[in-house]
Amino acid sequence: MKVTIVRDYNELSSKTAQLIIEQIINKKNSVLGLATGSTPNGMYKELIRLNQEGKVDFSEVITFNLDEYYGLSPEHPQSYHFFMWDSFFKHINIKKENVHLLNGITENIAKECKQYEALIQKSGGIDLQVLGIGNNGHIGFNEPDISLNGRTHLVNLTAKTIRANSRFFNNAREVPKQAITMGIGTIMQAKKIFYWLTAKEKPGLLKEQ
Ligand code: PGA
Repeated sequence: MKVTIVRDYNELSSKTAQLIIEQIINKKNSVLGLATGSTPNGMYKELIRLNQEGKVDFSEVITFNLDEYYGLSPEHPQSYHFFMWDSFFKHINIKKENVHLLNGITENIAKECKQYEALIQKSGGIDLQVLGIGNNGHIGFNEPDISLNGRTHLVNLTAKTIRANSRFFNNAREVPKQAITMGIGTIMQAKKIFYWLTAKEKPGLLKEQ
């Protein structure tokens, strides 16, 4: 594991964007695992800027997002589907058919999860997964006590995660109580994983590293 300490959020965003660009330069049709939350915003902004300046080409890139709230439609402003299109995909030259997001309103969760796993395999597996860590240690929506080899599945969110994510909603009652997430087993199969941890927001977690 390589640890890089950065000065501030701007440096975190530009360094992470740089890692993604290097990955795409090495392999035009890279498969990226992407994340939502507050932390990736700067990285997405930087990637949009570089794409618009012609410095990175997403036309062959394939993406899979980590997770989605169960019960929120793709049009819901707090769904991760909406977030990803609004803050990233619609601004870059990625092909719609190469973007994969879990369907939060699926009528068949088992089928949705199985299909997602199959699509990841069919694409050749994730080359680079970027992810954050929740303030209780969750990864994707895998809460800390979950199995280390699980695949994409439905999870019940803990009270702590619901409270933390209520900052994006009007109140905690509006936060969905469940989500669909790649499992830790799915994530661990990525060829490379990059994860960030911001000291100011998560000092306790930093001490444990
Ligand atoms: P954050 O979220 O980037 O908003 O801190 C990380 C997470 O909850 O996984």
